[in-house]
Amino acid sequence: MNKQTIVGVLGAGSMGSGIAQIAATQEHQVVLVDLNDAALVKAEASLNKILARLVEKEKIDAATSKAIIGRIKFSNTINEFSNCGIIIEAIIENVKVKQQVFTELESIVSDACILASNTSSLSIASIASSCKKSDRVIGIHFFNPAPLMPLVEIIPAVQTSEETKNTARALIDSWKKVTVLTKDTPGFIVNRVARPFYGEALKIYEEGIADFATIDWAMTELGGFRMGPFTLMDYIGNDINYTVTETVFAAFYNDPRYRPSFTQKRHAEAGWYGRKNGRGFYDYAEGVEKPEPNKDEEIGGEIVNRIVVMLINEAADALFLNIATKEDIDLAMTKGVNYPAGLLEWADAIGLEEVLLRLEFLHAEYGDDRYRPSVLLRRLVRDNKTFY
Ligand code: NAI
Repeated sequence: MNKQTIVGVLGAGSMGSGIAQIAATQEHQVVLVDLNDAALVKAEASLNKILARLVEKEKIDAATSKAIIGRIKFSNTINEFSNCGIIIEAIIENVKVKQQVFTELESIVSDACILASNTSSLSIASIASSCKKSDRVIGIHFFNPAPLMPLVEIIPAVQTSEETKNTARALIDSWKKVTVLTKDTPGFIVNRVARPFYGEALKIYEEGIADFATIDWAMTELGGFRMGPFTLMDYIGNDINYTVTETVFAAFYNDPRYRPSFTQKRHAEAGWYGRKNGRGFYDYAEGVEKPEPNKDEEIGGEIVNRIVVMLINEAADALFLNIATKEDIDLAMTKGVNYPAGLLEWADAIGLEEVLLRLEFLHAEYGDDRYRPSVLLRRLVRDNKTFY
């Protein structure tokens, strides 16, 4: 594939329009299709606004901005995809709808066309099963906002051919993205490894150890994370974040490590989604001041320790189960969700024995399998080894 490859994007929502912007910026002709005309109008307006801002900030000039938008064809029919070399689907997260759409797409495109899904949580194998030529199907998972976040997870299904995998990865690399290769397992890398960032923070709150503001303060000021868990959940939306947790939990056959939280469920049920509707864990109404954290360094340190060792344990287990390489696991968390350091690298810096001790303490204290240390961590400590 090269710059002459026409890129199709299905779904002109937040992800689809971002992906179209990236491809058009990389000089591809792009066909952006959505069945909903209003979504197309909104996508075009928002792309124009984003490009105008880039011109204002002198990141691009006016001619480039005009050329980028000029390369995108907005359409409400998938027949426009017939000459595409690759189609990236970013429609609603529903496996039945995606399967139906992939069957339809296959009837329109040439045999050489790669069909990709931007799904965050569905199995690529199940989507691919709807195609006759299932070896052309792959997961290409961008992060929100797609033009700004460098990471893209490349997810071959069991059916995906080596050729599809290599071609898709090379194309996304040519878009100056950081690609990581991951197995087709629930949450891929990021949405699996990041679960304790939310789950453990919620549990710490539920146990009455600290309030939202204090946990957020500890994780940003002491832990070095760019956003605290509650600020981030409010940003993502409690409805979406809760659903991802529930999906991952069910997909892992109810492994207690991924157990969802009642606190978040109630916030979602109350309609307290977060920033998008003005109320989440925090109140975003005008004039409302943010609650003050309790800046007790001892409590703060314990909060950071507990969440970080749980994250490390998750990263270690992903490596143990060959979900991805250690380099890709660390890259995924720094480039996809802005963690201050790769978790396996971080584990080496803390000392694996110390990490294991903290996990064993939690495991013994709670008697909950949620805290069971990864076998890999135990083995490395036993053999006096490190991740790197
Ligand atoms: P969105 O709701 O903003 O946009 C979805 C768009 O798809 C809508 O414009 C809708 O009209 C259109 N659509 C629905 N069914 C369609 C069909 N059959 N044919 C054509 N268009 C159709 O959703 P968003 O957030 O952009 O997510 C899209 C996909 O990307 C989902 O699979 C989601 O899991 C995934 N994703 C979302 C991320 C996020 O943070 N929002 C991050 C990474 C992946």
